[in-house]
Amino acid sequence: MYVCICKGVTDRDIVAAAEQGATRMSQLKECTGLGSQCGKCARDAKAIFNEAKQQAREMSHLFSAA
Ligand code: FES
Repeated sequence: MYVCICKGVTDRDIVAAAEQGATRMSQLKECTGLGSQCGKCARDAKAIFNEAKQQAREMSHLFSAA
């Protein structure tokens, strides 16, 4: 699903950025361009990003415990 229409950024793009180590919204914005025009996507993008970071942390704990 598109989260940022202006820049064509999807929820999958946001999850991928989190999985690749982005931890701050500024990093997400820098690598995707998200939020750089009208800014209407910022709130939804942040919620998806926070959830994706949490899942990425949980996955890293699973792999480090094995
Ligand atoms: S919808 Fe993301 S900047 Fe406009």
